[in-house]
Amino acid sequence: DKANYRHFMAKEIHEQPEVVGHTLARYVDMATERVALPVKLPFDFKNIQRINLTACGTASYAGLVAKYWFERFARLPVEVDVASEFRYREAPLRKGDLAIFISQSGETADTLAALRYAKAEGAHTIAVVNVPTSTIARESETVLQTLAGPEIGVASTKAFTCQLMVLASVAIAAGKARGQLSEEDETRLVHGLVEIPRLMADALSTELQIEKLAHRIAKSRDVLYLGRGTSFPLALEGALKLKEISYIHAEGYAAGELKHGPIALIDETTPVVVIAPNDRVFEKTVSNMQEVVARGGNIILMTDAKGAAEATVDSLVTIVMPDMPAAFTPMVYAVPVQLLAYHTAVVIGADVDQPRNLAKSVTVE
Ligand code: F6R
Repeated sequence: DKANYRHFMAKEIHEQPEVVGHTLARYVDMATERVALPVKLPFDFKNIQRINLTACGTASYAGLVAKYWFERFARLPVEVDVASEFRYREAPLRKGDLAIFISQSGETADTLAALRYAKAEGAHTIAVVNVPTSTIARESETVLQTLAGPEIGVASTKAFTCQLMVLASVAIAAGKARGQLSEEDETRLVHGLVEIPRLMADALSTELQIEKLAHRIAKSRDVLYLGRGTSFPLALEGALKLKEISYIHAEGYAAGELKHGPIALIDETTPVVVIAPNDRVFEKTVSNMQEVVARGGNIILMTDAKGAAEATVDSLVTIVMPDMPAAFTPMVYAVPVQLLAYHTAVVIGADVDQPRNLAKSVTVE
């Protein structure tokens, strides 16, 4: 049931601090601040040479965020594919490689086919799934469950942030096993994860401001989303969320790609949502924003207090997010990104929980 919310999507956005917290408690030992995976992996990360992450849609964006984490924490090369491409590409996997499949439903036809392919190639397989009785869960070697609870809204929200929590934990575990992270590093990173549910709750307090902003976005024909680093996949996710539930055309880009084409789209009618926590690539994103402003573009900036103070650009709206460690910002910045899509769809009067042409679980290819 929808509790007191108008839509399942709203309820599920608001549930995130709680369900991400449950997922966290399953993957880390809160007392010692160490990663403690709920199952023993049938391999040692020391012997893994590369990871293939495969999924569809929003789940594939969780995979793209995780790529940054595995590469940084564990120095492991990661390839991310959408399942519909991976399954037919005949990607060479070596026996003993690791293939990770991410799926809320655990029934997505392309992701399942990709899993079967990876198994046939002799890879180790991990499924990050929300439904533990699903086909993908049953058929993979190891299951790492997200504890998002049932997700009813067609647009994925809480499953995404729970996927990120699981993947962050596994990436830290990999870094530790490979000797890339010290005990202190692990403690610092896990401490960062432990803070996430509270920070997500703080992020929900941007809702009134975002609701106002949604009235402006609802009048746009196109919207651009920009981000760098782990904020880049979130830009892709923001654009997907907006188009699927509000039917407004949106594109997500790596901020540095702007001048390689999309900058031609900038004018005063196309809002540019910039996801830019004050991290080590912040300065670079600021110069991209200057390029947008110089061409008459209107910026909606999602950043923290320090970023807001340091951004030398005139933004239309600045959404000030809580301060937090740079590594895990996507889980927290997902909240305003989801809220913006949600409220825009509500303003437009779209059927938020049942967008046209879409099914919750895509069991045919
Ligand atoms: C977007 C959305 C879809 C799903 C995709 C994969 O909001 O919900 O893009 O993420 O269809 O579905 P699962 O995770 O069930 O494999």
